[in-house]
Amino acid sequence: MSVEQDKRLAAEAAVAEICDGMIVGLGTGSTAAFAVAALARRITDGLKVEAVATSKATAQAAIAAGIAVRDFAEVPSLDLAIDGADEIDARLWAIKGAGGAMLREKAVAAAAKRFVVIADGSKSVEAIGAAKLPVEVLPFALSFVVARLEELGAAVTVRPDYWTDNGNLVADCRFAALADPHALAGAIDAIPGALGHGLFLDEVDAAYISAAGEVTRRDR
Ligand code: 5RP
Repeated sequence: MSVEQDKRLAAEAAVAEICDGMIVGLGTGSTAAFAVAALARRITDGLKVEAVATSKATAQAAIAAGIAVRDFAEVPSLDLAIDGADEIDARLWAIKGAGGAMLREKAVAAAAKRFVVIADGSKSVEAIGAAKLPVEVLPFALSFVVARLEELGAAVTVRPDYWTDNGNLVADCRFAALADPHALAGAIDAIPGALGHGLFLDEVDAAYISAAGEVTRRDR
């Protein structure tokens, strides 16, 4: 069983939660792409849903697959959102944003009555913290925000030649240890010009993790 097959199985398990009439948030990345494909298959079989996408890439893929995609700017709440993660632990704390979509992903997750992470077993960790933590940065405030992130203990790399769908930069942060992720999330949230980050601590309601072909569901 390959990692790709595990991504597909986790995605299909989450997509099985979708019911007629739902508005569904679609995440970004290679695992979320399997959810888009699985949802498209269910729509072909008669499921009636609408979606919002967390990135331009996902919107394009979903539309190409025949999914009705609405503009999130016009959608105040969603029934369910499904997205990948770079790390997820037993507390259902996650680090997201390797694909740079964490700001839109967090807004969509917050709008959803239920937010479900899908991942292959390699993303499952004892405690989050080894993955780089991406922070979306207003270009105007780049030096100031990087300095503040360094004061918080981060080794910062600004992604070269990269802009988010929102036209902003991404500062990838590595911390020697994530002693208090909630405190860190609050500290980053408080930096003017830091527009969003990949710490998802209280957002995740459930996760489908597939390892060696076996899908496990974790609930909060
Ligand atoms: C994008 C994300 C992705 O969901 C995360 O990086 C996982 O991606 P993949 O499924 O390709 O490993 O947060 O911003």
